Amino acid sequence: MQEQPTTQGRDQFQSKLGFIFAAAGSAVGLGNIWRFPYLAGKNGGGAFVLFYLICVIVIGFGLMLAEFVIGRNTQLSSVDAFKKLDKRFTFVGAMGVLAAFVIMGYYPVVGGWSVAYVFKSILGQFSTDSAVMGEVFGALATGISQPILWTAVYLIANIVIVAKGISGGIEKASLVMMPTLFVLLVILVIRSLTLPNAIEGLKYLFVPDFSKLTGDVMLAALGQAFFSLSLGMGCMITYSSYLSKKENLVQNAIVVPTMDTSVALLSGMVIIPATVSFGFDLGQGPGLVFVTVPAIFATMGPVLGRIFGIIFFLLLTLAALSSSLSLLEVVVSYLIDNRGWERKKAVAGSSIVLFIICIAASLSMGAWSGFTIMGMNIFDFLDWFANNLLLPIGGIFITLYVGWFMGKDKVKAEVTNDGTVKFAIFEVWMFLCRIVIPAIIAVVLLSGIGII
Ligand code: TRP
Repeated sequence: MQEQPTTQGRDQFQSKLGFIFAAAGSAVGLGNIWRFPYLAGKNGGGAFVLFYLICVIVIGFGLMLAEFVIGRNTQLSSVDAFKKLDKRFTFVGAMGVLAAFVIMGYYPVVGGWSVAYVFKSILGQFSTDSAVMGEVFGALATGISQPILWTAVYLIANIVIVAKGISGGIEKASLVMMPTLFVLLVILVIRSLTLPNAIEGLKYLFVPDFSKLTGDVMLAALGQAFFSLSLGMGCMITYSSYLSKKENLVQNAIVVPTMDTSVALLSGMVIIPATVSFGFDLGQGPGLVFVTVPAIFATMGPVLGRIFGIIFFLLLTLAALSSSLSLLEVVVSYLIDNRGWERKKAVAGSSIVLFIICIAASLSMGAWSGFTIMGMNIFDFLDWFANNLLLPIGGIFITLYVGWFMGKDKVKAEVTNDGTVKFAIFEVWMFLCRIVIPAIIAVVLLSGIGII
């Protein structure tokens, strides 16, 4: 984090942009570019996207603001923030640590694929033929030593950065990376939309077919909103604990989701139209971005395609890294603050366990695909368990806490900086936290897992 010691002895972000980029760096990652397009493709397109957008606007904004209020008020990371505010809610922080742990049990596998594709771009193995691209991805993902090796490379990058506590460098780098990523995505949208038949893909992405909006599709959209915005597990509580008392929380809770959602929608507009144009399978799941995007590069010719491929997968890797750092840091800071471990020991200890889980997640794409939990392989189960269960449940308790238990005056003072910032819809937001958000999450959760 970009922070300097202050007179109160706690680090703070020195500039508004510093915080926004750190928070956006956590939010923008594989969730936007890898996960959003493949879920949209798999879950029927328009209706999924529309429900996702509703979740971002109604729940994302409200919950992010709630996390900011808790974090900045206590100036503590999530577990200790709840411990200080109300001991009964400490379990919410603990659940967040578990969520970070579960997500880090498969996120580095995808990060590893992304690193591998930087090299595949250099070698120029890309084509617009679905059989070839499927083969290239399949050979990587279902392999044994290769994907584990790339996962290790990716995980080691995380370990080195978190062990040294030098994430400031990464966050500074995202000041350059994020705008570059954005520009690159805009160029790719233009390339994708000028492919034959691309308009059909655009329709698929944006014209809702409500017959597709089943309980599990809604839960997938809700889970995606949580995952993409890094919500429901205290990540934003921790980040905002470094935020100065002068910052406008409301503004931040609008800017960060807007940036995050723009990247997701742009990625969707790159990947879905191109997938349709090439005649690839929209519902293929986690391989989608790794099959379709290289095919787009193949249409650009050997030289330009290669250059674009290298830049794209490099940026995807770095965007993933700035997200997974925030996840690993949640686990590590818990071990340090709560268990009294040294930073190096905490990083090493948690990484060994995470690596073992990642190996299982990676093998479950191939050799171990026969082993399933609730009908899912290990990879999909970890993803489902964290995003469609732990994060939404965390979200319910965080908003309920701010809505009912924190005390209206305290919340109002925090969110308006002791009355110096106007927040016209304060009452509306409180109502969202008290009733609307927890109720929507609960209903979607219960219908998604088939209870109602
Ligand atoms: N939001 C990141 C992404 O889209 C992943 C992530 C980082 C995350 N921190 C998180 C997800 C905390 C859930 C909770 O790739």
